[in-house]
Amino acid sequence: MAQQVKILKKLLVKGFNVSPEALEILSSLDEGRLDHVFELISKVDKAVIEPQDLLPLLKKETRPQIERKPYEIPTRVDDIVVLKAPRELGVKGTVDEFINIIRDRFEFLKSILIRKSSVDPIPIADLKASTRRNGDNILIIGMVMEKRVFRDFSIRMSLDDETGSIPVIFKKGSRYWDRADKVPIDSVLAVKGTFINGRIYAESFRVPDLDGNLVKPGSAEGKAVLISDTHMGSRYFNEKSFNMFIKWLNSDLASDVSYLIICGDLVDGVGVYPNQEDELRIADVYKQFNLAASFLERIPKDIKILYIPGNHEPVRQAEPQPVIPSEYLDELLEVRPDLVSLPNPSMIGIGDVKILLYHGRSLNAIFKHIPGLQPIRPETVVEAMIWMLRLRHLAPIYGEHPLSPEEKDWLLIDDIPHILHTGHIHVYGVGKYKGVNLVNSGTFENETPYIKSLGIEVTVGKVPVVNLKNLEIEIKNFA
Ligand SMILES: [Fe+2]
Ligand SMILES: [Fe+2]
Repeated sequence: MAQQVKILKKLLVKGFNVSPEALEILSSLDEGRLDHVFELISKVDKAVIEPQDLLPLLKKETRPQIERKPYEIPTRVDDIVVLKAPRELGVKGTVDEFINIIRDRFEFLKSILIRKSSVDPIPIADLKASTRRNGDNILIIGMVMEKRVFRDFSIRMSLDDETGSIPVIFKKGSRYWDRADKVPIDSVLAVKGTFINGRIYAESFRVPDLDGNLVKPGSAEGKAVLISDTHMGSRYFNEKSFNMFIKWLNSDLASDVSYLIICGDLVDGVGVYPNQEDELRIADVYKQFNLAASFLERIPKDIKILYIPGNHEPVRQAEPQPVIPSEYLDELLEVRPDLVSLPNPSMIGIGDVKILLYHGRSLNAIFKHIPGLQPIRPETVVEAMIWMLRLRHLAPIYGEHPLSPEEKDWLLIDDIPHILHTGHIHVYGVGKYKGVNLVNSGTFENETPYIKSLGIEVTVGKVPVVNLKNLEIEIKNFA
């Protein structure tokens, strides 16, 4: 504690504040390394120092900087086409940027709902300005800004469009009550109902959803193996299971495997949550990437590897997340120069099969806010992913993890994939919804005290393998 206060004071004198996670990393350093970090810290161009700001400083001490060409996100690699990948990310964090991104999201979801409606929606301001409409049956489209359940179990939502805000009531016992109960805040809905004294009494509603006939079957050669959440560097990384997996990839049994997709949390990172260092076997993120490289090196060269970051990677946490910085990626490229590194989320095409890759950090909020999804198990993981498709957004609920207000909302599900691949939750789940195959790829990390505290029963070493010809999915067990 005394050490932490000393560091804090020293940083304040230099004009910096520090996050609790970064402070923990600093206080774990010996005197010499700490002095070295303090020498370099003025180069940090931020008021609050976070773990990712420390990593380059720690690296400069132990490793010479290697000049390499910065990695560029490809548009095509052999038979893999990168259909969507957030590029040129970076915002000032102004209020206008946040307003723009919410507007972009609302406009897109509204256009889907208008397409599916038989009547035109009424702008909320027009409705509220006219008392003559009392008793009228109307349609509005709005974003759920607030939701409350009253003592009589009626649900009251506050719906906003670009013109105003209006309360919408779902009476208990009405046909749509059960569905309304599940709708989380920030959803965009089309509501039909009766307008009475400044409120709408809902009779039915619709979420943007998929049309069902939107997805034409896709087909490609070979098989794709979908994994995530290996957490290399963690004490709980199940090396034995992962070795079995690599052995299988090298066997005749996997001769038809052409692609390996890693959907984030390849390494465990440092300072991701309080006291994480107690769970680390390798506390240096570069060494974690070295370990990852030693495994990737053993994967047959004719298997193409694709990789997106998750919340444990040393890269910006706000989504969309850029690709892993070159200084870490180089560790992997050294052994696998053909590795395809992409941002989170990204969409790729193999043949005419579209695969949407998203690490899945928003699943926490979906499990928390949508009733009926607990406890987390393979079926509810699929149900949670279905909500992404119903709401047509990869992170449908704001405020639970950082989202960056880029020029457009990269997390909208506009182009419908054949496969949606997520991870993060450490429980595998495989299912299908209106023509879209859903895969959450479990983990290679045994249950950690942190995961246990969240009440999650992890599925270790269960690997979904997709036959790209018919999109049939088989679960291989390396536990
Ligand atoms: Fe993870
Ligand atoms: Fe994660």
